[in-house]
Amino acid sequence: MALLRTLLKRLLPSPPTIAAETGGPRPQVPQWLPYLQDLPEGRYLWCACGRSGRQPFCDGSHAGSGIEPVSFEVTRKTGTLWLCGCKHTRNPPLCDGAHNWRNR
Ligand code: FES
Repeated sequence: MALLRTLLKRLLPSPPTIAAETGGPRPQVPQWLPYLQDLPEGRYLWCACGRSGRQPFCDGSHAGSGIEPVSFEVTRKTGTLWLCGCKHTRNPPLCDGAHNWRNR
């Protein structure tokens, strides 16, 4: 699986990102799909850098990356969340379909 991911990274162009447009640090891509989450009420930190070992949640691995996690709240009304897995969403922490870029 790691070999496939490495090959894909080399073969596929990087999607347009806020980072590319702003010249900011680029996130890593843990997966080219969203994470579906049914979470209990509370506050969470979505990993924006892509380095966390607890995807899609921050584990502090962003230190020094220039990228900060995104805090979000879950209430009883929230329901199932599609949290961005490619870290290129323009609507963090939610998936906005940016992962589809690779199919064009
Ligand atoms: S580990 Fe990625 S934002 Fe914290």
